[in-house]
Amino acid sequence: MSFIEIFAVSMKIVFTGPKGAGKTTLGGGIAAFFNIPFIETDKALEDLYSKEYGETATCREIYSAHGENIFRELERRAVQSMHENNWCLISTGGGTLYDSSNRAVLRKNSVVVLLRASDEFLWSRVKQSKIPPFLAGEDGFLHFKERNQKLYDIVNPICDIVFEVGNPLAKERLAGEIAAFIMLGMASPNTFGEIVRVTTFGESHGRAVGAVLDGLLPGISVSEEDIQIELNRRRPNQSRVSTPRDEKDKIHILSGTFEGKTTGAPLCMLVYNEDHDSSRYDNLRDVFRPGHADFTFWKKYGLRDHRGGGRSSGRETVGRVAAGAVAKKLLKEKGIEIFAFAEMIAGVKGETEDFSVIEKNSVRAADPIKAAEMERAILKLQEAGNSAGGIVKCIIKGCPAGIGDPVFFKIDARLAMAFFSVGAVKGVEVGAGFAAAYLDAAENNDPMDGNGFLTNNAGGILGGISTGADIVLRAAVKPTPSITGKQQTIDIYGNEREISVHGRHDPCIVPRIVPVLESMAALVILDAIRMQEKLKGCF
Ligand SMILES: Cc1cc2nc3c(=O)[nH]c(=O)nc-3n(C[C@H](O)[C@H](O)[C@H](O)COP(=O)(O)O)c2cc1C
Repeated sequence: MSFIEIFAVSMKIVFTGPKGAGKTTLGGGIAAFFNIPFIETDKALEDLYSKEYGETATCREIYSAHGENIFRELERRAVQSMHENNWCLISTGGGTLYDSSNRAVLRKNSVVVLLRASDEFLWSRVKQSKIPPFLAGEDGFLHFKERNQKLYDIVNPICDIVFEVGNPLAKERLAGEIAAFIMLGMASPNTFGEIVRVTTFGESHGRAVGAVLDGLLPGISVSEEDIQIELNRRRPNQSRVSTPRDEKDKIHILSGTFEGKTTGAPLCMLVYNEDHDSSRYDNLRDVFRPGHADFTFWKKYGLRDHRGGGRSSGRETVGRVAAGAVAKKLLKEKGIEIFAFAEMIAGVKGETEDFSVIEKNSVRAADPIKAAEMERAILKLQEAGNSAGGIVKCIIKGCPAGIGDPVFFKIDARLAMAFFSVGAVKGVEVGAGFAAAYLDAAENNDPMDGNGFLTNNAGGILGGISTGADIVLRAAVKPTPSITGKQQTIDIYGNEREISVHGRHDPCIVPRIVPVLESMAALVILDAIRMQEKLKGCF
């Protein structure tokens, strides 16, 4: 199987360029590189001609014997026959692409590569072989330049890659560009990370949920127990303030390890959905829950999995936590630890930060006294058919200075994206965050002495790069949208309806989102460290 068959659903590579650009040599080389057939539109035309006319002739001979009209008609039919072609490299010249129907066929499901170079360089190549009759004579070069410009004008708007020929290692470089382009096209909204990449799969009421974690080095110890510990923290039905959906969330590692160690292959982790009683959602079949993603999923995909929200369900985060468990373990070995906790719930704010109590109270607060108050506030709202929101604080300890990749992969930008990708997160702050806007520089700047920073308003990040101080983040988590209280809504037909949601829902998402945010933070930091290793070869 070739590279593009593995990575793309259906795809062809189309090469074009002026005479002398190397459509045949470079095109043939790239086709061999990717192990796909090499097809030339000229050759296809000649084959069609010999089939229909019972004689062989070159394109030039066909053109001069039958004239432009018959030639172009044959060419069009030869190109049309490539309509369904995939997994191949098609080389074609400018003349073929002047025809818009040919362009449409060749553009479909393809990566269009335009080979170009200076006219002088290409002309010197043309002269090395035989100058064709239509370029012969005194005006040959002028004519050549005009033809090239016409080709560029037509191809530029439809090409994906413009490649300057005549460079050393042209084949390898171009193959790399094509591979990168195809993989970019494959970028999936369900995959996160650059080197350490996680893809989550599964729906709330499907057979299973989980993740594929790729980009791990071989030889790392990973066990189902390591992952189970973290999944148990995210699991439903842990306390009075989480959904009573009774899922054991037992992890199964399906691939990527041998005798307890990673092999370097994708680590596939799966959890079966057991307690998914879809009948509870029948009354939601055609109504949109206010505050949930029902309406937007319907608008976007034109269909909707009413059973628990499908991919928009909190259940999707099982895969994140499974992958995050592995990332956390690897980071811990490097001395990096991540602690998240409920800083505020339903207006009740924690006053102390004792990490040792986080797992000992139902709301995952770092203040045991306020934890009890938070729980009471949640239950009170739940009783009234309502739900509670809150703030999660996340602290990353031990991250060395120098992690993060300006400009678009700044570590704060990536952490914010990771957090915002989790359902119900409505705000992310770094360090002093929004409060910094109310300070002056003398208050906000973090002075330094020989031992480091004296304060940490920056939250451990300057210029998108870690400072070595604790990385401090806060996430605002909205109140659970599904509530039993009556609310006004519409159905998929646009009728006004009243809704009261009676499935099994978290009365507050904060306690269960804590391990999810830790996991996302761990995945970002691990990936960023791998990027830094690539840059510097060290950590
Ligand atoms: C761990 C977790 C658990 C959640 N539990 C519920 C729930 O029980 N009921 C509910 O309506 N929403 C729940 N949500 C929130 C919805 O998934 C989320 O609000 C919805 O997808 C809409 O997205 P948005 O809030 O980001 O706009 C949960 C989210 C997470 C991360």
